[in-house]
Amino acid sequence: MKFLKYLLAAFLLLPVAQVGHSQGRTPDRPLPKWEGLADTPQMGWSSWNKFQTEINETLIKDIADKMVEYGLVDAGYVYLNLDDGWHGERDDQGFIHEDLEKFPSGMKALADYLHARGLKLGIYSDAGTNTCACYAGSLGHEYQDAYMYAQWEVDYLKYDWCYTNNINPRGAYALMRNALRKAGRPILFSICEWGSNKPWEWAADVGHSWRTTGDIGAVFAPVPITYDENGRPRWRPQSVLDIIEQNEPLRQYAGPGHWNDPDMLEVGNGMSVSEDRAHFTMWCMMAAPLILGNDITDMTPETLATITNREIIAVDQDPLGIQGLRLKKEGGLQYWFKPLVDGDWAFCILNEGEAPETLTLDWTALEVNDELSGRATSFAEVNYTVKDIWNASAKSFTTLVKGKGKQKGQMVPATAEVTVGPHDVAAFRLTPVK
Ligand code: GLA
Repeated sequence: MKFLKYLLAAFLLLPVAQVGHSQGRTPDRPLPKWEGLADTPQMGWSSWNKFQTEINETLIKDIADKMVEYGLVDAGYVYLNLDDGWHGERDDQGFIHEDLEKFPSGMKALADYLHARGLKLGIYSDAGTNTCACYAGSLGHEYQDAYMYAQWEVDYLKYDWCYTNNINPRGAYALMRNALRKAGRPILFSICEWGSNKPWEWAADVGHSWRTTGDIGAVFAPVPITYDENGRPRWRPQSVLDIIEQNEPLRQYAGPGHWNDPDMLEVGNGMSVSEDRAHFTMWCMMAAPLILGNDITDMTPETLATITNREIIAVDQDPLGIQGLRLKKEGGLQYWFKPLVDGDWAFCILNEGEAPETLTLDWTALEVNDELSGRATSFAEVNYTVKDIWNASAKSFTTLVKGKGKQKGQMVPATAEVTVGPHDVAAFRLTPVK
């Protein structure tokens, strides 16, 4: 009798379980995100900023080859991310396929090509019915899509927020996180809903990074707002300075495995060399994902030098994973500090203005007491060696020197003269003198 009961229960439960599975419902128990994939901010290249949807296998392989040849992979840029526009159609069963005209060898072959060169493959989809460029979105196909990505050996997913028609953002991103986890392949999950629903408040266990702003353009200073014939403001790209303002207050939310993402880099896409340097430096000071967005097959020596400066990359990739803080804004100058391992600090001055500024650094006026990290610069007691990050030939100096006159022989705070060009930075690494 007992046996019959069990049999009946099993029979009744079976179809429910099957339906639940075949429709890819969210499991009752949320699955954890893949850990350990972004202990430091992710680094790579994405197709969007330069090529938009004009991507294909030849171009991507060429980019991959050049990333190896120019030392970008060695410098840490390991993700090669296809953004919008790789998609073909869904088949009768709803599985997504690549556009075989653009990628004739298929996505798995592309993944193999990249993996053989020390690179990882990133892909792009959207939580809504369509991607922002109107290709198929993942809504209702989350488990199928995650399954396909795992089959292709994808390593990274950027998940966008167009055509989402009022679905719940937290639920939508958690659903894809669960699907990726279920598919069984570690995939870095990059949330892209432009900061619209404050993902920093809820996404630390969902994704590895979240966009904090609208889309970046290759512009340093804010683009003036213009209005259409109905008086509505026209879309305009976010400038480097706009983005810094939006990302700066969010530092408490960033850390290993869960980063604020102020959008991909525009270095090499039309700003001046100094603007590119300032943009790149500020992204490193803010512990941002470093996703290049320029044409790697055709770049100037200056662009290459900017994106491969190991000292500033080390600031971004510092294992403590603390987003930098803005100590103050004075005139057109911003003063930033970032606590680094072993008592080091990164320090930079950003010149927002159009004219060069020469200033005398007075360390006592730059004292930092960072509540978030519990670190203080203690310039009166700790002597630091100061190394110029962008000027390799500049001599290092220290923050304390032997006093003259009354203070003869005593260590006193030193001053230093620094010039910061227009739309540029001066950046330094401070290391305690042992
Ligand atoms: C959105 C994203 C961009 C890019 C495009 C693709 O605008 O924010 O980064 O992925 O979609 O269509």
